[in-house]
Parts: sequence; structure tokens; C-alpha cells
Amino acid sequence: MSVFRDKRLVPLISQQKIADRVKELGEQVTLHYANVSDPLVLLGVLKGSVIFLADLVRTIDLPLEMEMIGVSSYGEATTSSGVVRITQDLERPIKHKHVLIVEDIFDTGLTIKYLVDNLASREPKSIKICTLLKKDATSRVDIKPDFIGFTIPDAFVVGYGLDVAERYRNLPMVAIYQP
Ligand code: IMP
Ligand code: MG
Repeated sequence: MSVFRDKRLVPLISQQKIADRVKELGEQVTLHYANVSDPLVLLGVLKGSVIFLADLVRTIDLPLEMEMIGVSSYGEATTSSGVVRITQDLERPIKHKHVLIVEDIFDTGLTIKYLVDNLASREPKSIKICTLLKKDATSRVDIKPDFIGFTIPDAFVVGYGLDVAERYRNLPMVAIYQP
């Protein structure tokens, strides 16, 4: 049963396009933090950002730390509930550090908004957001990602870390899921 040739998937962003764009993002991030003296922490949001984070850190030519945080927003539904909770917290404090949140996708922004508010209370030096994908015109919050890989139409997508009910995270490209 092939995942890569699943008929429910309509290719949207190829593996090569992702790789090229991740490299550009890494260069932007490197430039942005090149002259900071406090530690830089890349904070991956579990589990969707794991693959993006793994590729992204290898394109950032700076000393950095990696942390993960677990949040749950959707359950297994494909529309945003707006209900967010932390399922796994950071291992180390982020006080006086520059935090770059790494997300798979910014849809309503409710997940990120919750995270930013939560992290801000821990007194980091700064908080910025890097997202691989941003859905066009679905934002319901006043914050914007600082680094965006691709802006995409308002469709449900999977692959490169993104799932539907835990499936398709291992798809090397991003595809629209049409059941
Ligand atoms: P938001 O809170 O609406 O911005 O949603 C963010 C989270 O919802 C992401 O981290 C994803 O886990 C999930 N999500 C939103 N849109 C999609 C999608 O098109 N495919 C898969 N997951 C999605
Ligand atoms: Mg998910």
C-alpha cells in the first residue's frame, strides 16, 4: 500500500521546491540572528514541525539550541477547534534567549498565538515565528509569522511532517488531501 502514490493526494509543493526554499529560509534566519549575543533556541512544535526543523537547522550557520514543545489543537478533525493545550513542555528555560518558533503550518494562528503568549511569560529575549506554510487569508489573530516558506490556498494539506490522523507525515512533498 503506497503512501507516495496515494490517489487521495494532489501534489502541491515538490520535494525539490521545499529543499530550495528551506535553504533560503535558513539564510534569512542566519542573517537575522548573525549579530545577537544571547543564545538562539529553535523551538519546534511537535509533531508536525519535526521534519522541517531537521532540515532547517542544517541550513542555519549559527550556534543554536533545539527544543521541542508539544501542543494539541485539532485532535483528528480537519478544521480548527481553537482549543490548544500543552502536551509536552520545554526541557530547559528560555529566559534571556532568542526563541524562534518553528511551525509546520499557520492556519488560523490560534495555536501560535497561544504559544507566543505562554512563552512570553517566561521572559525570553525575543520571540519570532518561522512557518513552512501559511494559509492565505484564514488568520484569526493579530500576529504574523516572521519567516514564511510558502503561502498556500485554504485547502487541507499533508506531507513533510503534516498529517491527517497521524498519516502522511513521511510524504516527502506537500500535497492537498482529497478523501
Ligand atoms: P492553527 O491553530 O489554526 O493555526 O492550526 C495550526 C495547527 O493545525 C498546525 O500546527 C497543524 O498541526 C494543524 N493544521 C492546520 N492546517 C492543517 C492542514 O492543512 N493540514 C494538516 N494540519 C493542519
Ligand atoms: Mg496535526
